[in-house]
Amino acid sequence: MSSTFSALQVVFITALVTVLEFSANTKGQTTEGLFRRQVNCVGEVVSRNQCPVQVQTTTVGKCAAWCLQRDGCLGFVRDSSQGECHLCVATARPDCTNTQPASPGEKAYELIQIACMTNGGTSSFSGTCKCPSGFGGNGCQIQMKDCDGWQEAGYPNGVYWVRPSLNTEAFRVRCSMEWNRTVIMSRTSNTLDFNRSWVDYRDGFGDVEGDHWLGLENIRLLSQPQPYPCLVIQFTLSNFSFYIARYLGFGLSDETGNYALDFHESKCLSPPMGDCLGSVKGKPFSTYDADHDDDGGGSCAALHQSGWWFGGCTMCNPTGVMTQPADMQASGNPEEVFWKPGLDGLSPQKVEMFLKDCQ
Ligand SMILES: *[C@@H]1O[C@H](CO)[C@@H](O)[C@H](O)[C@H]1NC(C)=O
Ligand SMILES: *[C@@H]1O[C@H](CO)[C@@H](O)[C@H](O)[C@H]1NC(C)=O
Ligand SMILES: *[C@@H]1O[C@H](CO)[C@@H](O)[C@H](O)[C@H]1NC(C)=O
Repeated sequence: MSSTFSALQVVFITALVTVLEFSANTKGQTTEGLFRRQVNCVGEVVSRNQCPVQVQTTTVGKCAAWCLQRDGCLGFVRDSSQGECHLCVATARPDCTNTQPASPGEKAYELIQIACMTNGGTSSFSGTCKCPSGFGGNGCQIQMKDCDGWQEAGYPNGVYWVRPSLNTEAFRVRCSMEWNRTVIMSRTSNTLDFNRSWVDYRDGFGDVEGDHWLGLENIRLLSQPQPYPCLVIQFTLSNFSFYIARYLGFGLSDETGNYALDFHESKCLSPPMGDCLGSVKGKPFSTYDADHDDDGGGSCAALHQSGWWFGGCTMCNPTGVMTQPADMQASGNPEEVFWKPGLDGLSPQKVEMFLKDCQ
């Protein structure tokens, strides 16, 4: 019995796929099939007054396609002996109310893509759920708070919409799935200027597909309401050696607190990249036009041509000017990218910051 059913399903899905010219949608997820045979009421079909629209069709698949095109259609009754299809605005309940005995050749099918409607998703004609930005899964049921949700749903590296909070807009982030990373800064050249205003650092700049700063507000949202397990800063030298610093329990205050830096502990600092942020824990963020540093009349942001959490200026400047010298030797100028604890004198080829769930 069950093998008959699944064979039927296969035939049906094949027909549907042909009719709909099914194409995989990278945002939505394919469903197992949009309709199922109504099997709970043996020998019965949905009563005709629930299926008022009649169309002539040659196949079950075309009947299904008619139903999908029609607003409010929840299923159909197919009569193979007459070549008829009746589109239903209501399907039979599991208790078999509103059903009537089936004529020879009549079979009822019901739409099972109701699941798409979770979180405001819609069924699409191509056989996928169309989910609002920041939701995913077969039925839009998963709120994608960061890249981990997309990774668990089996998506490859790429840029995805995330919605850390239901009360705020979704936004796009780059996800590096093989390392479980939600990227918040990427720098591979000096093309993108990081000498930027407060508004730019708050809202983000660059292109998430390439070099960019995700924006303090979005970074803050990612670390709410719980601190994010881990902030990682990675320097890669031109000889491909890389160095990472990890900060566990990372969070930022909101804009009224000038996005002050918080974390529980600096840990797993892979030698020789030492701790820099320990000295600026609790410090607000500064830019050339929003000076919140401890440097009296001076501006650390202007000196270092960057935006960062400064105390009396800084021991590291990941948002400074990328000089990328072939010999990896830093010039020692204050505007350059540097990380003094452990990497003094070395200038990186690449600087990345990301959030991840690390121990
Ligand atoms: C990524 O996360 C998965 C669990 O979601 C885990 O099994 C895997 O080991 C993690 N990979 C890395 C590189 O952290
Ligand atoms: C940094 O940007 C500000 C505002 O555009 C500008 O006044 C300043 O000269 C810039 N600094 C450098 C060194 O380019
Ligand atoms: C790359 O350069 C650094 C700094 O000179 C050095 O410590 C490291 O061993 C080098 N890595 C490789 C793979 O040669």
